[in-house]
Amino acid sequence: MSQPAKQTTAFDPARAEAFAGRILSALNDGALCLMLSIGHRTGLFDSMSRLDPATSTEIADRAGLKERYVREWLGAMVTGGVVEYDPESGRYALPAEHAGALTRAAAADNMAVFAQYIGALGYVESEIVECFVNGGGVPYENYPRFHDVMAEDSGQSVLSSLESHILPLVPGIVERLEAGIEVLDLGCGRGLILARLAARFPRSRFTGIDLSADAIAYARANTCEQTNVDYQARDLSDYADWAPAAAYDLITTFDAIHDQAQPLAVLRGIRRALRDDGYYLMQDISGTGHVHRDAEHPLGTLLYTVSCMHCMTVSLAQGGEGLGAMWGETKTLEYLERAGFGRVTTNRLEHDVQNNWYVVQK
Ligand SMILES: C[S@@+](CC[C@H](N)C(=O)[O-])C[C@H]1O[C@@H](n2cnc3c(N)ncnc32)[C@H](O)[C@@H]1O
Repeated sequence: MSQPAKQTTAFDPARAEAFAGRILSALNDGALCLMLSIGHRTGLFDSMSRLDPATSTEIADRAGLKERYVREWLGAMVTGGVVEYDPESGRYALPAEHAGALTRAAAADNMAVFAQYIGALGYVESEIVECFVNGGGVPYENYPRFHDVMAEDSGQSVLSSLESHILPLVPGIVERLEAGIEVLDLGCGRGLILARLAARFPRSRFTGIDLSADAIAYARANTCEQTNVDYQARDLSDYADWAPAAAYDLITTFDAIHDQAQPLAVLRGIRRALRDDGYYLMQDISGTGHVHRDAEHPLGTLLYTVSCMHCMTVSLAQGGEGLGAMWGETKTLEYLERAGFGRVTTNRLEHDVQNNWYVVQK
């Protein structure tokens, strides 16, 4: 039988009390995330940002929602420090400084979008608990809101800086896209990034591939007017075997390698499909690969949680490697080398604490 861990230092009551306070805050903040998500999905933040201080009835009416629910939600918003309340007038207000981080008008800065992950992962908590006991994983199709939230996330975080920050990382690519090249996006999800590129660069041709038939159906419907983009629902696990040789000038993966079943096979396929003068642009999570260093990461807990309850488990569910979102830069570079790539530049974008942007050549 294993021995209990030995207590090496004297019990510190002040430390215990401080920790209990920290967990108390976590309880409040976890609950707040669920309510931030509801505020986003119901449009309450957007609607309040356009209102002068208002009663719960006025807020509910303006948003077209039921007052009783809105009043309870406002309770969480006031106690959570998001909304201000004047007990004299019974009116609630969303300060402009808070609206700047919670509304659709805030575009790239709307953090309520990310709060949706907590509820979206909650759907599978019991299945994850079962996996802790029996192993295996939870498949993609068991997450009813994943593609919805993911598309909103990347539609905000990637699209907002696609032309200003991301494309300029790849030397000469804008000129080549304007002239007309072949582009492939793997693990494209609902395909919003490709749709934007296809609209912006009509002379180039774009192909998106993803495992999810639902996500691909959405991508197709969203681009039915565009003739230079094609989406395919396919499993990339054996992409190394069927990737066309030297077919693409630019290949992209946005947050789509670490949750693959067979990431190395996908990378090997990418290398095969890339033309000699082509570029592979890879966005992946900026973990260090060392848990003690990731403690400094501003989103460390969130990213390990999303990894455990999504990225790692969906890969394991496909009989895959289960790399996890926090596999880190060192391992990413090792995988790129094993896939046969010769030149890799790791970039960070100032506004993006979550990702590394790898510009890769054969
Ligand atoms: C984290 S999401 C990123 C989606 C998209 N690139 C974006 O940024 O919105 C990862 C994507 O990889 C896809 N994927 C996972 N395993 C796959 C597989 N074996 N073959 C093809 N696609 C896969 C998922 O369906 C999902 O859309």
